[in-house]
Amino acid sequence: MSDTDRIDTYIHNLFIPDDPALTQAVDDATRAGLPMIQVPAALGKLLGMLVRAVGARRVLEIGTLGGYSAIWMARALPPDGRLLSLEVSERHAEIARANLARAGVVDRVEVRVGRALDLLPALADSHPFDLVFIDADKSSYPDYLDWALRLTCPGSMIVADNVVRRGEVADPDNMAEDIRALDRFNRLAAADPRLDAIIVPNRGGNDGILLAVVRDG
Ligand code: SAH
Ligand code: DHB
Ligand code: MG
Repeated sequence: MSDTDRIDTYIHNLFIPDDPALTQAVDDATRAGLPMIQVPAALGKLLGMLVRAVGARRVLEIGTLGGYSAIWMARALPPDGRLLSLEVSERHAEIARANLARAGVVDRVEVRVGRALDLLPALADSHPFDLVFIDADKSSYPDYLDWALRLTCPGSMIVADNVVRRGEVADPDNMAEDIRALDRFNRLAAADPRLDAIIVPNRGGNDGILLAVVRDG
């Protein structure tokens, strides 16, 4: 076992009990041919803890896949809380809805199908979101940050997956469009006076998540 696998296994064994609904959500998504790129269980748990910590009643997710991270966050909501998850693939959305139903949270979650950048403008007039989780196409992350700032309020949290990518974001010679966009996203979040932000490495240090709190005033 590699060092990073040992670290992740240690954390997983200590903090993540077996959970049939979550295991089945991953199994079904895998059987349906979806990529195995859901958040690690430890990040799923952290997302649920953040939903509770901010007392979130409205959560926005960008990138549903098979609904794995959505299950973690929806379970952490109060009964009248709502999660809206945006997904470009109708097939992914259907699998996610089935997984959310089996996890018993389908009444708290709406999966809306379309390109996130096409769907986000319709949310501008709704109540602000208490937490936004960004996890879709990486080249749109800078735009997603703009929207997250427009759709939140002071005290809200903005969380983004995959912002380190094996350290590639730190290599200015890496010209891949998604990597450059992730670096731009990180820089925008770091410099924005409206945000208090940090990157926390995860996946044994191979990747990282960005956590940001929207400041007062
Ligand atoms: N959050 C999920 C994983 C998301 S994977 C989990 O942890 O369980 C990324 C998802 O974003 C994929 O399902 C992909 O289809 C979707 N996606 C990619 N581009 C998108 C776009 N422009 N708008 C909305 N969803 C998009
Ligand atoms: C990959 C991982 C992710 O968490 C994601 O959101 C997209 C892609 C990957 O490893 O390819
Ligand atoms: Mg991800």
